[in-house]
Amino acid sequence: MQKFLLKNVDNPRSTDIREYRKSGGYKGLKKAVEMEPGKIVDEVKKSGLRGRGGAGFPTGMKWDFASRDPNFPKYLICNADEGEPGTFKDRHILERDPHLLIEGMVIAARALKVGRGYIYLRAEYPAAEVILDKAIDQAYKEGLLGENITGKGFKFDLSVHRGAGAYICGEETALIESIEGKRGQPRLKPPFPVNVGAWGKPTIVNNVETFSNLPLIIEIGPEEYSKIGNPDCPGPKLYCVSGFVEKPGVYELPMGTILRDIIYKHCGGIKGGGKLKAVIPGGISTPILPPDKIDCQMDFVNLPKAGSMLGSGAVMVFDESVCLVSVCMRAMQFFEHESCGKCTPCREGTGWLSNILERIENGMGRNGDIELLLEVASNISGKTFCPLGDGAAGMLLSFIKYFSDEFDHHIENRKCMVN
Ligand SMILES: Cc1cc2nc3c(=O)[nH]c(=O)nc-3n(C[C@H](O)[C@H](O)[C@H](O)COP(=O)(O)O)c2cc1C
Repeated sequence: MQKFLLKNVDNPRSTDIREYRKSGGYKGLKKAVEMEPGKIVDEVKKSGLRGRGGAGFPTGMKWDFASRDPNFPKYLICNADEGEPGTFKDRHILERDPHLLIEGMVIAARALKVGRGYIYLRAEYPAAEVILDKAIDQAYKEGLLGENITGKGFKFDLSVHRGAGAYICGEETALIESIEGKRGQPRLKPPFPVNVGAWGKPTIVNNVETFSNLPLIIEIGPEEYSKIGNPDCPGPKLYCVSGFVEKPGVYELPMGTILRDIIYKHCGGIKGGGKLKAVIPGGISTPILPPDKIDCQMDFVNLPKAGSMLGSGAVMVFDESVCLVSVCMRAMQFFEHESCGKCTPCREGTGWLSNILERIENGMGRNGDIELLLEVASNISGKTFCPLGDGAAGMLLSFIKYFSDEFDHHIENRKCMVN
């Protein structure tokens, strides 16, 4: 398939603005500065682009809400926190094609009449910070950021804000708290950030990959763009594949590519000719799927029909040698560690679930532990302040739904089925 988002990443000098321009970079912005801001919002709406950060919210709709808000100043934030375990797609753009992101953000700033933007960067990506700072400098020098962008009289300032090293700071309202210098904890919604965001002002938060789609949409137009992928969920998509496959990595494919094809066609199948046991299709907070569910399209509409979610498009593949009780325990320990502590069901519940899973994994499981796990999870689902708790509970429920025999074996035999 033709590459749009990753077309520059194999060029060893891809981070340089001259190389970016040589490959057609900043053409989308050139077109966008000739358009009325409202027209850009319309084009993004027509394109059908959905946010690539996890929830799949229609970008044009979010922008429409923001552009209708009469309050100024407005802020633009790129969510580059990339904290979902298994996810490393944004890093590819941040470290190898920073101008693609900058161009997308300037187009968004023009559309939404925003004068100030931030890239909220994952604390664990120090190399990306150096690369982004350099690219931002180059863009200022060439009149693509700052006052009077491309001589068209609009202004947009952009800088990098290093994240706080916490998973919760990827949640957009916790991210905003963190940018304001506060402890990263989520805010109650509504009001949504598009109306009341950073410093109480309208704030548009989008993911790195979402912004990176904008130059393409403006350049080829929404009609052509929506021919890529499937009609419900158009566009190219970055899938990052890890675990037991021959060729793990970041793959740009049309949105809606079949999960089986990602694993067997693009990634060369299961490592060492092994047998597939399970797949987590969208990062650790999305439900796990057994092998008979992998003939589904990987997008925001079809994966839920198969019982999971696209999330961040982070495909984690497990073969028969893996103990899924241990994977589940490790994932829950992550959620317990990363729970921000603001609400009781998540703070206490993830801790309880971790404790129970640890005793099962360590051969100390008791009769009734599965029922207890289900009960605790049911007191988290739908009862937490933000989706972190739902992700933790949903992940656990899916493990028990499809792989309860492994949990039972651990409890009855006080040891693992596979090791
Ligand atoms: C616990 C949690 C962590 C999140 N982490 C990220 C993240 O690292 N990157 C991201 O883009 N979105 C993340 N999100 C989703 C954001 O809240 C938000 O929906 C997204 O940045 C919006 O951008 P989009 O519409 O372009 O997807 C997270 C959400 C939750 C609940």
